[in-house]
Amino acid sequence: MTNTLLEIKNVSRTYRNVGGMFSANWFTKKRYNVAAVNGVSLTVNRGEVVGLVGESGSGKSTLARMIMGLENPDSGSVLINGLDIHPCSGQQLRQIRRSVQMVFQNPYAALNPLQRIDAAIVEPLTNFETLNQGQRQSIASAALKDVGLPQRLLHAYPHQLSGGERQRVCIARALTLKPQLLVCDEAVSALDKTVQAQVLTLLRQLQQRHGLAILFISHDLAAVNQLCDQLLVMRQGDIVERGNCDQLLSHAVDSETQKQLHPYTQKLLQANRFLEGVR
Ligand SMILES: Nc1ncnc2c1ncn2[C@@H]1O[C@H](COP(=O)(O)OP(=O)(O)OP(=O)(O)O)[C@@H](O)[C@H]1O
Ligand SMILES: [Mg+2]
Repeated sequence: MTNTLLEIKNVSRTYRNVGGMFSANWFTKKRYNVAAVNGVSLTVNRGEVVGLVGESGSGKSTLARMIMGLENPDSGSVLINGLDIHPCSGQQLRQIRRSVQMVFQNPYAALNPLQRIDAAIVEPLTNFETLNQGQRQSIASAALKDVGLPQRLLHAYPHQLSGGERQRVCIARALTLKPQLLVCDEAVSALDKTVQAQVLTLLRQLQQRHGLAILFISHDLAAVNQLCDQLLVMRQGDIVERGNCDQLLSHAVDSETQKQLHPYTQKLLQANRFLEGVR
């Protein structure tokens, strides 16, 4: 078995949109194209934590959706364990999806308000396996323990939980399928700083405990720095910088080496320093 878990080769995705209702384009049905992802290649190794940062609209979520098999690329390939996922369908796609799970930004929208936490946690697994009540309870209970939540929450409803607790439940739910890769799209952005730090620590622990690889999409360089080994910087659908997270981020204080960075990465680091100064 090779060390490469996810390999993205020259992937592109363009959206063809009709203009908005009140624009001239809508009446003429003129279309305009948005090249959301433009020839991106990257690899994520087993157990590696990779940060993906970049300006809003640079194509990070589009890339994440293609990794999850929720959207097809126009060209290029997404390989998980060496298998190109986009020509796959049916049972084969379901099995591949099992090894890649996602945690979304908003833990409030991600949980069904009418479903108890134990049911929410085991739900993904019931798509693959038939479980009796006892098995459901013991899996949900172990998953809750894994993410550091008390057992009393098993029978609670989402509205009875805080944002941080809900996000832990979402992580527990994603982990019940024992994925090899966890894609976190702005997974801590909606949480306050202390809860953010707790969830980041939890992700690190889970990564070490389960040998999980994580693709961590974020706008927050401090969070990325705390969690990630590798860093990718995306701009206008392309990856403009990649390298060791520590080294890239420490270039912010080294004016000599900073010159080697892409101008956008330099701006990002400057903006980050400015914000840290303001805090
Ligand atoms: N379903 C869609 N239909 C049309 N255009 C889309 C669609 N999804 C995304 N786009 C466009 O593709 C580009 C990339 O969007 P994407 O959501 O991937 O950006 P992002 O990097 O995740 O941004 P953010 O940091 O704000 O979440 C944007 O210009 C967006 O408007
Ligand atoms: Mg996004």
